[in-house]
Amino acid sequence: MIVLAVLAQVCLPPSWSQNPPNARELLSKMTLEEKVAQLSQLPGFPIPEFKEQVGISPEDVVRRYGAGSVLWVPDTKEINRWQHIAVEESRLHIPILFGLDVIHGYHTIFPAPIAMASSWDPKMVEGAQSVAAREARAAGIQWTFAPMVDIARDARWGRMVEGGGEDPYLGAAMARAQVLGFQGSDLTAPDRVLACMKHFAGYGAADGGRDYDSSYIPEELMWNVYLKPFKAAVDAGVGSAMSAYMDLNDVPASGNHWLMHDVLREAWGFEGFVVSDANAVHSLIIHGYARDGDDAAYKAFSSGLNMDMASGTYLKYLAAEVQQGRISMRQIDDAVLPVLETKIKLGLFEHPYVDEARLQQVENAPESVQMTRTAAQRSVVLLRNEHNLLPLDKSGKEIKSVAVIGPMADATNDLLGLWGSMTKPGPTVTILQGIKDKVGAAAKVQYAHGPNLRRDIPSFFEDVSMVTVKEQPKQTGEESRKAIEDAVSAAKMSDVAVVVLGEIALMSGEAASRSSLKLSSGQEELLEAVTATGKPVVLVLVNGRPLDISWASEHVGAILEAWYPGSQGGNGVADVLFGDANPGGHLPVSWPRSSGQLPLYYNHNRTHQPEDAPDFQSRYWDISSFPLYPFGYGISYTSFSFDNLKVSQAQAKVGSNVEVSVAVANTGSRAGDTVVQLYTHQRAGSASRPVRELKGFQRTNLAAGARQTVHFVLGPEELQFWSPTKKAWVVEPEHFDVWVGGDSTAKLHAEFQLTP
Ligand code: BGC
Repeated sequence: MIVLAVLAQVCLPPSWSQNPPNARELLSKMTLEEKVAQLSQLPGFPIPEFKEQVGISPEDVVRRYGAGSVLWVPDTKEINRWQHIAVEESRLHIPILFGLDVIHGYHTIFPAPIAMASSWDPKMVEGAQSVAAREARAAGIQWTFAPMVDIARDARWGRMVEGGGEDPYLGAAMARAQVLGFQGSDLTAPDRVLACMKHFAGYGAADGGRDYDSSYIPEELMWNVYLKPFKAAVDAGVGSAMSAYMDLNDVPASGNHWLMHDVLREAWGFEGFVVSDANAVHSLIIHGYARDGDDAAYKAFSSGLNMDMASGTYLKYLAAEVQQGRISMRQIDDAVLPVLETKIKLGLFEHPYVDEARLQQVENAPESVQMTRTAAQRSVVLLRNEHNLLPLDKSGKEIKSVAVIGPMADATNDLLGLWGSMTKPGPTVTILQGIKDKVGAAAKVQYAHGPNLRRDIPSFFEDVSMVTVKEQPKQTGEESRKAIEDAVSAAKMSDVAVVVLGEIALMSGEAASRSSLKLSSGQEELLEAVTATGKPVVLVLVNGRPLDISWASEHVGAILEAWYPGSQGGNGVADVLFGDANPGGHLPVSWPRSSGQLPLYYNHNRTHQPEDAPDFQSRYWDISSFPLYPFGYGISYTSFSFDNLKVSQAQAKVGSNVEVSVAVANTGSRAGDTVVQLYTHQRAGSASRPVRELKGFQRTNLAAGARQTVHFVLGPEELQFWSPTKKAWVVEPEHFDVWVGGDSTAKLHAEFQLTP
């Protein structure tokens, strides 16, 4: 507990409206306790344990010492009330930085991050996060705990939905775009927020896909895969980072000196600050890494963790660590400085309060609504479309009735995913509504819910007050059978069935891992029964991870992956189903056939019995080794061909650029987008290299019959890797393969050689 009394009153202005302070000068006036308070993020909602731990309430901490940050304050009035305490009642009048998880929107909710990554459209992603930033800032939030850039190779892990998928190159592009969207080039602008890359690092490799479990990741995989998106975020100027919860190679990430010091500060020159994940400083004790609170504060702080999220451990123990000489005042100052500098940059000293009417002026802006509708259109992935079942006719000539079926068809906040449901989401257009609006009077729409969707083991998020999504009510076996019968009757009476299945929001996200990827809660039975009617069936998936759709992939006419498509999800999906938009999204993850294949990723190493050998069948005897749909896959209502692949030089010196060009043509009869993807492979070297690695992509729109040449540059950045034998980044004089095409199985091939 902070014990020292507040020292002499320093004569500071009660408001900084004209002259924001100089960070160092301010620091020189602060007591140790005030500094420690700047290194603390307080809960903005009641947590009884906090008061037990710290001895006083979070508000009293602010009153006496100020606070670095407060998280999860739900509304603007409350934010101003807290800020008033900091600015008017605390001795140094230092404003609070308010943090919240604005992950893919605050009021206008965009598709979930995995969906945004499926767009392969960084510019769009940047634009989306700039809308999120504007709305969040108008609500008084200056700091978002995003982007989440954890690489995920195992779909059992619930948090795959929050990131950019399995690939470091695509993940880096998404990380960069999001940082730029949130922060812009100038944090002082009134509609930007501080971004926070998370969860640093390796969280996505949790053992068995079980959330929070330990990750064991060798250094070469850290550098070459897991750290790549974080590095991109740092290069884009990200101002803060969040340490992860889990043990990384037996050292918890929140007390991991290698991560927060050697990598982040030493290797990358990061100048922002690191906040722990919630309670993670205290959790160092639970992990069995720290002996007690003192030790936890010491281990986290001396590893480079600036700010303790909500555990109160720094507040209670850090000052004593300084007094006992284990931590120096210089170290404390170095940790506080970036926090103060960030507040100054954000303009908080001049404008600590939020105009309570401002949010209303920016929310529901027609451009933002249109942007999220476009984002939904651009992020859905068409996985199957037998006999061109899609797009459906909306004129009423071919289709006079549509059955819209399934437990996600009329979902509202569940279309937003877990984080999207927790801020202040605006109106959501359901898929059922989107379809009704699309066909208007031209076709009759019948709706049947099907069996209710529930987790077998409930989510603790259901008890969190900000969470607005719920489990669907429990049903008896008979009720759920009846729900399937009703759906079958609706299908029988209709010309086509659109079956919307997947996962309610509580089924993916934090603490939402699963051992099986099967369509749960009777959804598989529902789909099979509806398909058995013989009516054409379109399966729309609303979910946060690939699911086991092996049966559907052989029996259902069309499959559209919509992920959690956001506020305008229903309209965006209907636009695609009825041909007003042509799907162009591509998978940011390899799609497994079953959870038994996990972890599954395309950029694995080549074995002594390679999968491209003519007689290769499978490494499993009960299932193919290959994914159901490969990384980068996605089809369109038109078709594309690739040819004329050229590399600028057959031989080039290490360190120089090799240019690659390819012609792509729209060979179908309507305009559409493809994602031109470039993969490389280094044939030999100081380490085995993956069979393929994405090293360039471009989403390209082409009119029917149009042809375009797309250019890529392979420079040292693309051709280097961290070598486990050299313990360094290397570009090696070796032979390289290049493939370009529409997914990670692209066949069009070229090669070049790097020479010393
Ligand atoms: C999550 C973080 C999140 C934090 C604050 C934690 O449980 O792991 O991603 O930012 O809570 O809400």
